[in-house]
Amino acid sequence: MGETLVSVDELDAAAAEAELRQLAEKIAFHDARYYNDDAPEISDADYDVLRRRNLAIEQKFPKLVRDDSPSQHVGYVVLDKFEKAAHALPMLSLDNAFNDEDVRDFAKRALRILKLAGDKVLSLTAEPKIDGLSLSLRYEGGVLQTAVTRGDGSVGENVTENARTIADIPNVLSGENIPDVVEIRGEVFMTHEAFAKLNERMKEEGKAEYVNPRNTAAGSLRQLDSAVTASRPLKFFAYAWGEMSAMPSDTQMGMVAQMADWGFQVNPLMAVFDSIEPLIEHFHRIETERVSLAYDIDGVVYKVNDLALQARLGFVSRFPRWAIAHKFPAEKAWTILRNIEIQVGRTGALTPVARLEPITVGGVVVTTATLHNQDYVAGIGKDGEEIRSGKDLRIGDRVQIQRAGDVIPQILDVDLEYRDASSKPFEYPEICPACGSHAVREINEKTGKTDSVRRCSGGLICPAQVKERLKHLVSRNAFDIEGFGEKQVESFYDAGLVANAADIFTLRKRDAHSLKKLKDREGMGALSAAKLFDAIDDKRKIDLHRLLFGLGIRHVGQQTAKDMARVYRDATVISDAMQAMDGQHSEAWLELTAIDGIGDTVAASLQEFFRESGNVKVFEALLEELEPIAPEIAQTDSPVAGKTIVFTGSLEQMTRDEAKAMAERAGARVSGSVSIKTDLVVAGPGAGSKLKKAVELGVDTVDEDGWFELIGRDKNL
Ligand code: IVH
Repeated sequence: MGETLVSVDELDAAAAEAELRQLAEKIAFHDARYYNDDAPEISDADYDVLRRRNLAIEQKFPKLVRDDSPSQHVGYVVLDKFEKAAHALPMLSLDNAFNDEDVRDFAKRALRILKLAGDKVLSLTAEPKIDGLSLSLRYEGGVLQTAVTRGDGSVGENVTENARTIADIPNVLSGENIPDVVEIRGEVFMTHEAFAKLNERMKEEGKAEYVNPRNTAAGSLRQLDSAVTASRPLKFFAYAWGEMSAMPSDTQMGMVAQMADWGFQVNPLMAVFDSIEPLIEHFHRIETERVSLAYDIDGVVYKVNDLALQARLGFVSRFPRWAIAHKFPAEKAWTILRNIEIQVGRTGALTPVARLEPITVGGVVVTTATLHNQDYVAGIGKDGEEIRSGKDLRIGDRVQIQRAGDVIPQILDVDLEYRDASSKPFEYPEICPACGSHAVREINEKTGKTDSVRRCSGGLICPAQVKERLKHLVSRNAFDIEGFGEKQVESFYDAGLVANAADIFTLRKRDAHSLKKLKDREGMGALSAAKLFDAIDDKRKIDLHRLLFGLGIRHVGQQTAKDMARVYRDATVISDAMQAMDGQHSEAWLELTAIDGIGDTVAASLQEFFRESGNVKVFEALLEELEPIAPEIAQTDSPVAGKTIVFTGSLEQMTRDEAKAMAERAGARVSGSVSIKTDLVVAGPGAGSKLKKAVELGVDTVDEDGWFELIGRDKNL
């Protein structure tokens, strides 16, 4: 290369334009040597210098970006792995409606929460739900900075180089009034035509064909070599946004129109409706047109059009209350039920699984179906009602299955004419197949009903339960230990090396004193053993919520674990608080259930887990080995961050849920009872004993207006 380049800061527009032209030519020339001839003339490092220079000039002169600029299309990079990247605002999921009635309920609920009368107009948008994968694109100064997959909603994978190869994703936004920060979210997908062509090519090359366009699109976006992504014709529809330094519109429709002006493809079937029935008609129209569309869709998404109303509706857990996905009915097919297997889960639940004669439904080969529980196999639903018209399931039956999206297939019906006269009802085991303990159906004290799930009573002596718990502990959303997956759990447990969670973290220490070393085990070797020990050590510092989720306590999912971590902030505090629970009236129980999203079911399950001394022992032993990391306080600049707040009395400007969510988003902890630890009581009209107690204890009190003054009017913060 050798030539000295003028610093980008010193370039004027004319010089920049000329250099961008030269760079486009040069890079195209070297791409051709590399990709077409397999004979590169310059080193990768020198090639990168050219591309970086091109990008740097484009960032300074976004208006000069050429149509044939390398940044606009091919930009092939080979990575070792994708970097993780946090989303500035979480990428949420959508709640589902499975029929017209669910949609009417959704609208009614929104009106109720907004305290609008039932005859008030609630404007809703409707647009196809694209069956692809979502991607968040961040633009600064109008130039694409990062493209990050949804991941777990908080953290995804940085696939920027691959996204640059997608023609529908502009590298530089066009049009006027572009805010400094623009995050566009939408769906990456593959058309039926592109998918068919790709599969033809695979067939010709004697390679395995792809299953469906969605998985292929996902696989294509996650290629480490972006040349491969570029060779797959992916498309992108924009439909949502994340962080925006300024909002160009105050409606959903306006925002999408703006995205189109900035150079994105938006779905032409999007429309807005002022009442529910025409909206539902639109759904059925799209349902009929579905087969003739160039791409897969699996439903229609409705969103409240007015963004101020969206903000007021807010979120519950991972779902916005201002949007819902109306799903198309699932696809169906008939096949043979070959076997019913019983699996024992981490909480001891015996779960029957159907092994089916493989059959293709909606382009996917189905071999298993979920059977839920004993009653389900017998043809009895949750509330004692009949399912499959009360027909039981027997091995050898001809059954109708249905599959919707990525959901595990279900068995809808049984063909009784096909059933052999000698067939017998399935005998559900009353003994755990893994440990031989009694498997029982408990009676719910509250309802007096028999639990639908039969559970192994073996607890920590049941190898299946212990193994499943360990598998959960090392899984992706918990400890995510590299090289320590289900296979290792099985083999280390069977060898007596790991019998509980804490054992994983003492493995290195014990191995040092052991005669039979890990490196000598079959398939191991010194290098893999050392790597595994390092991978375990890497996870000694662990996010508190991952640790909590990793314990595998019934009903404690990722969101609940995050909520608890945010509020309690310390593992020992959690352990003490959980052990202090003693029924629904105990202080510890009330404190726990005061957390937004945590109810009595979760509390009961946590109480049960921490009552078992074996569990507490393992948890304590685990804490000896770990350094849990408390979550960052959400908004340190908020005046209520880190404070404990109690809401009491009737609130008039917000619902109790809204109030809780607002406070928690501002980094506060919401409690149900006033004590010496309370920092602030927000009292609405009619506040009684709690307000009195606050005054007695000298705790600060404010009314609703005072609360808004303190925290700001924006309910969505
Ligand atoms: S809106 C906060 N609109 O569906 C709401 N999602 O089931 C953000 N999807 O993760 C999503 N088409 O990947 C929205 N027109 C559309 C969509 C859409 C497909 C996907 C998206 C999302 C998933 C939720």
